[in-house]
Amino acid sequence: MKEITHEDYITFLKNNKEVLIEGHRVKLHGSWKIGRYAPKQDYMLEGTTVWSFPDRGDWATHIGDYRGNFSPFIPRNLILKYSNKGDWVLDQMVGSGTTLVECKLLQRNGIGVDINPDAIMVTLDRLNFTYNPLNSDYKEPILRTYVGDARKLSEIKDESIDLIVTHPPYAYIIPYSKKRIEGDISNLNLIEYLRAMRKIADESYRVLKENKYCGILIGDTRKQRHFIPIAFRVMQQFLDAGFVLKEDIIKLQHNVMSDRGRWRGRYYDFYKIMHEHIFVFRKPAKNEKTPKHSCKWW
Ligand SMILES: C[S@@+](CC[C@H](N)C(=O)[O-])C[C@H]1O[C@@H](n2cnc3c(N)ncnc32)[C@H](O)[C@@H]1O
Repeated sequence: MKEITHEDYITFLKNNKEVLIEGHRVKLHGSWKIGRYAPKQDYMLEGTTVWSFPDRGDWATHIGDYRGNFSPFIPRNLILKYSNKGDWVLDQMVGSGTTLVECKLLQRNGIGVDINPDAIMVTLDRLNFTYNPLNSDYKEPILRTYVGDARKLSEIKDESIDLIVTHPPYAYIIPYSKKRIEGDISNLNLIEYLRAMRKIADESYRVLKENKYCGILIGDTRKQRHFIPIAFRVMQQFLDAGFVLKEDIIKLQHNVMSDRGRWRGRYYDFYKIMHEHIFVFRKPAKNEKTPKHSCKWW
């Protein structure tokens, strides 16, 4: 893991106004004009196991132009439910930094890691705003960003993290670096990918404090007309690592590729996949007796 600082970002910005992620140009803004720092006032936090955000959320610097990024409503809900101000939140596949922006707004200390140095520049760009809420005792949290591999979080101590919120590649569906970056798990075939996810699960277990939560968003795919349940197979890696499952939340998908004209499924005999899973795992306390049916599959 190599720490990339705000100063590194400022130096990078002098010669780079954009980065290329999976063939898509992502602009580095440098400075931001922000209208709102939170969801619209009438937004109520989620209360059921089905989440749907037709309006994906565009407060602060959330602009959604990083391929496969998640709606900021996801980290916001998980952070507010499972952590407190001043806690340490980790996103070890941070992409464009959605989780860290929410950490900054919600006063959680945050660590963001990504295998792709350009992703970390996007994250630092999204964090490059001033937040000074009038009313409160707000204290700017500590936010650290690293280029590194989620399978080996060498700079993070055992049991030092209060909450993990992360969003891995869905195996090979979006090839983030198109084989350019060694260690990018979106380069792997399904079996290798699941082995990588097991290492990520083990590392998540190591760094998380006991009795704390790890939330991940993960989806499925089809191949040759078969449904490939990537999500459940990833869930299995986390259970095998020792986690227990607290929640399986169905997240409805809007604006999927198929809505933009590239989906040919209507000519076939299967349905368009329009949901993903948010699994919330808990690391059991030492000596806790967990019910057999809620942990490791056998
Ligand atoms: C689905 S994206 C995350 C998007 C993020 N939630 C956001 O809102 O922008 C997955 C990220 O995992 C990163 N990644 C792939 N392999 C990795 C690895 N071995 N370690 C850390 N990050 C990795 C990719 O570079 C990509 O940015």
